[in-house]
Amino acid sequence: MWKLVHLLLFAAHVVSGGLFDKDDAAEDEVCYGDLGCFSTAYPFLDPPYRGVSVLPESPEAIATTFHLNTRKNPSVAQILLNKDNTSLLSSYFDPTRETKIICHGFTENGDKQWVVDMAMALLNYGDYNVIRTNWNEGSLALYSKSVANTRVVGAEISLLIDRIKALYNINGQSIHLIGHSLGGHVMGYAGERQGDIGRITGLDPAGPYYEATDPRVRLDETDAQFVDVIHTNVNPIWTLGMGIYQPSGHLDFYVNGGDDQTGCDQSVTQDIISEGGFIDGGVQFVTCDHNRVNKLFTDSVGTRCHEAYYCEGEYVADFIEGACALTQRVAEMGFHADLYKPTDNSKNLVFYQKTIGEEPFCGFHYRFDIHFDDPWRAANGKGNLFVTLIGTSGNQERLQLTADMQEFRPGQDYRFMAVTGAPMGTLSGLYFEWEYDTAWYKPWEWDIFTKPDFYVHRIEVYSANDFTSYIMCGQKDPIKANRDVAAFFPVDKCD
Ligand SMILES: *[C@@H]1O[C@H](CO)[C@@H](O)[C@H](O)[C@H]1NC(C)=O
Repeated sequence: MWKLVHLLLFAAHVVSGGLFDKDDAAEDEVCYGDLGCFSTAYPFLDPPYRGVSVLPESPEAIATTFHLNTRKNPSVAQILLNKDNTSLLSSYFDPTRETKIICHGFTENGDKQWVVDMAMALLNYGDYNVIRTNWNEGSLALYSKSVANTRVVGAEISLLIDRIKALYNINGQSIHLIGHSLGGHVMGYAGERQGDIGRITGLDPAGPYYEATDPRVRLDETDAQFVDVIHTNVNPIWTLGMGIYQPSGHLDFYVNGGDDQTGCDQSVTQDIISEGGFIDGGVQFVTCDHNRVNKLFTDSVGTRCHEAYYCEGEYVADFIEGACALTQRVAEMGFHADLYKPTDNSKNLVFYQKTIGEEPFCGFHYRFDIHFDDPWRAANGKGNLFVTLIGTSGNQERLQLTADMQEFRPGQDYRFMAVTGAPMGTLSGLYFEWEYDTAWYKPWEWDIFTKPDFYVHRIEVYSANDFTSYIMCGQKDPIKANRDVAAFFPVDKCD
């Protein structure tokens, strides 16, 4: 799997022309006073993963600013400077409280609605110093330049923390850095410089120019005492997603498998592809999937419903459902993930959460193991599967199990995860149906006379919410696409 990802990244760089741009690839260095020096050499130039390495712009050009909100000034921010003591001393900054620093990504700014919403949610929850970072001027450059600028912004934040530490004689334990997209890596640089930051939360940290690079280049678990990363747009195969694919924290949460967020219009990503690529293409570096993570985190501050489930082995994005049984260790995605900080040296622990499409996005997790029978007349079939769960009080919820049309073979078992929006209680049965899309209809493969029936009479259901397993049995009759609704009931054992 990794090899494939690397190959695709390499191909993306070749296509974008990065490898052949001699100026971009030249090694160079620039120094910016207190912020230190920035070289374009390895590890920042590291083909094929990073075929382009340019110098960052000056601190003056990037014009990073810091905006403090506390419970005393929730709406009108106070500007903090990392160059003097007076702005901090004359502000409401309180060193006895925890400090949350938020940082946006490409083409955004510190007053974006999601940043303000996140700051408000944090202040509603706790009496924090909330600092919104604004590096808008530096984030509007070409993507490759904005990537370089993240190093300067990270150094600026580190300098602010230096000043806080010196003025108030505190350490980094009470400081929590929260960064989205490029902002995730900004926080990685700040944390790396500090060495004692309590926590960094990476909100779908950017993938392009960071994937598979040296840990010094990207956010990783060595950048703070606890690093939690939420992935929502990592599809490496078709779109090279905007988020980083590899696990980068102590805990890595792949919401909905890390891509294709429920309720997001996926055509936005497709549009960007048809526009000719998003890297330096002048196309907005935003999609519903990539931005969903901000809402997820903000909602998770006050709503304790974001259970995620540990997945065995290597992270697997597209195949993640097969690796996650929902029976193992649980952690909470988002703000409260720190309660699940590993007590041993483990890192890159992969957790899986499925969501519904509306805020606060939480659902009740179910696992379905569907056994396809193999009578002599059974054939392969391609379709979408649906179940309708029936609770004891007669409440019902219909769930689509397949993300896309999928092929099913007789004699095989297939595993799916799905969430209901409401708790179902004890299940009294389910309905099973399947559909095929006429777009897939090819008479030479699948005509009206040979159209396969599905033979399914055993479905195992596991409710992760109440740790209950059910064996559900139906009839051995064929189930016709777009027509039959087969009823299943819980039994001790199917024959
Ligand atoms: C700022 O505060 C630090 C820590 O108290 C102190 O060492 C430094 O001299 C101060 N700088 C100025 C310009 O007052």
